[in-house]
Amino acid sequence: MGMFDGKKGLILGVANDRSIAWAIAQLIMKEGGVCGFNHLPDKADDDRQRNRRRVTQLTDAYKEQAAFVLPLDVQKDDDIAAFMAHAKESLGQIDFLLHSIAFATLDDLRKETIATSREGFKLAMEISAYSLLAVVNAARDIFSPQAAVLTLTYYGGERIVPGYNVMGICKAALDSCMKYAAFDLGPRGVRVNALSAGPLKTLASTAVGAKDMEGLYAAVAPMGRSVTHDEVGRVGAFLLSSMSDGITAEILHVDAGYNAMGTPGRLLDRLKG
Ligand SMILES: NC(=O)c1ccc[n+]([C@@H]2O[C@H](COP(=O)([O-])OP(=O)(O)OC[C@H]3O[C@@H](n4cnc5c(N)ncnc54)[C@H](O)[C@@H]3O)[C@@H](O)[C@H]2O)c1
Repeated sequence: MGMFDGKKGLILGVANDRSIAWAIAQLIMKEGGVCGFNHLPDKADDDRQRNRRRVTQLTDAYKEQAAFVLPLDVQKDDDIAAFMAHAKESLGQIDFLLHSIAFATLDDLRKETIATSREGFKLAMEISAYSLLAVVNAARDIFSPQAAVLTLTYYGGERIVPGYNVMGICKAALDSCMKYAAFDLGPRGVRVNALSAGPLKTLASTAVGAKDMEGLYAAVAPMGRSVTHDEVGRVGAFLLSSMSDGITAEILHVDAGYNAMGTPGRLLDRLKG
């Protein structure tokens, strides 16, 4: 008997096999859950439908469990509405929704935060924070009682993490969006949480220097390392399952304890010695 037997839901944010959303989705599907996926819409002149194929190449191995793969750009209300209408038709009600989406231009990420462009700030905020509200609102009528929503955040929204820059501001906004959404949806029994993951190598994280951050976590975190995709996947699945009933409006850190440090710890000893 799987933890997700009889459960259905939506996975937003698989780009490739290194995506955090894929780590979480795989566990859910292995535990019996049925998932509908999105992909970034392909350009009209891309006959090979590269974005779609990157996702279907993964979901093809889960024929029974992957219900559909459809285009969805969170900047487009029509896309969101069409995606949710299809989800209703295909799945009826949903028991879980994963939001694992962020974007900022490289140009803006590489600037000092105070030099972030107005357009770049709006774009990053819209895709990385507002989109949680937009998708959850569009899904409000298809949530089953006791459904769970999860978004992916990072410590750079709580504390200054040089290099994370405008994305840190987006994560602070996302954390707040998550809490207000938890309040709005609480009376329906729907929970909304955030998983704050330690650095993992993915498409998105290369832009914010995850590779260097892994070394820092190895030197500073209580566990002396960063985390793995599998560790993040398991906690993600837990927060989307009924095993976490009673947890909402929470930021759960899966970061080998890094966020609890008040000094650089062992790294400081190394610098002294
Ligand atoms: N990798 C890390 O170290 C790390 C750590 C903490 C939090 N996170 C967060 O995890 C989430 C997933 O990132 P990831 O690291 O798995 O990288 P990823 O590149 O695999 O995933 C990012 C996803 O965002 C999607 N996306 C971007 N713009 C979109 C739009 N307009 N509409 C729809 N989808 C859009 C991309 O298609 C992609 O699937 C992000 O919110 C990221 O900030 C990542």
